[in-house]
Amino acid sequence: MTIQVAKTAGFCFGVRNALELVEKRAAEKNGKTLYTIGPLIHNPDVVARLEGQGVKTVADVSELGAGDEAAIRAHGVGEAVYRRLEEQQVDILDATCPYVKKIHNIVREESLAGCPVIILGNPEHPEVKGIQGWCQNDCFIIQSEEDFGKLPQRKEQEICLVAQTTFNIFKFQKIVEKLREIGYNLRVFPTICKSTHEHQQEAIDLAEQVDVMIVIGGKHSSNTRKLYELCLQRCPKALYIENAQELSPEEIRSMKMEKVGITAGASTPNFIMQEVIRKMSEINTFEELLNESFKEVHSRDIVTGTVVQVTDSE
Ligand code: F3S
Repeated sequence: MTIQVAKTAGFCFGVRNALELVEKRAAEKNGKTLYTIGPLIHNPDVVARLEGQGVKTVADVSELGAGDEAAIRAHGVGEAVYRRLEEQQVDILDATCPYVKKIHNIVREESLAGCPVIILGNPEHPEVKGIQGWCQNDCFIIQSEEDFGKLPQRKEQEICLVAQTTFNIFKFQKIVEKLREIGYNLRVFPTICKSTHEHQQEAIDLAEQVDVMIVIGGKHSSNTRKLYELCLQRCPKALYIENAQELSPEEIRSMKMEKVGITAGASTPNFIMQEVIRKMSEINTFEELLNESFKEVHSRDIVTGTVVQVTDSE
């Protein structure tokens, strides 16, 4: 059996940046609590680790008071949240991903100039709620052609269109094409994050070559779920696990696989991927399967090799 780990598996730039900012600040606070508004990333193991460093999650800004310090997640928040935090005299540690920040600036400017905004994305996702919170005027959130009925009837006025950073690029292109076809005068801003696209494309390519595909990530992580769905379309034996404990030795042995592919969502840390690889090696008769390069790098932080490859992504 061989294991191939996607080069882009795991943290994206924005998530890594947010985690580093928060961990650094938590260390500086010498035990004084640092808050995050919502879990910093959709990974319970990382959230638990942060708790040990004095980082506490609050569900809402109303739980914060004067003198507290709160981190804004990579997903970002709407303008009103900043104002509210300022009113409550809460210090802000802004860990919004710069790519998300860029969308805030676009919709704010367009909106202030009187241009309505279409956001392609999931209206329930915090990133989309945050983007919406920077639109001053008309804002329409759609996910598919079925939502076209929500759009304004007047088509001649220019409309700004942005997308959630993790929106599927092919779906994006199709929707834009369709909207133009039916007469909307769009000003399109290509805001889909390159790292998400590369991440998804690599997972698709890998899933097509392997017998079993393992997708690692928090169960509430929408980008991990998306990766899993894409893999499942190409590889019927796709597993979605949060961590190594969820790997069942019986299930793995019964799959009789030769090639295994592994990828992980943008909020999955390297140590969890390492644990999964290690567990796979214990479950299988790995001694004869592993080549020297794997044994040599087995305990390192970053694993590279012919059989097993784990590389940090940007
Ligand atoms: Fe930012 Fe892209 Fe990650 S927008 S949070 S780097 S998926």
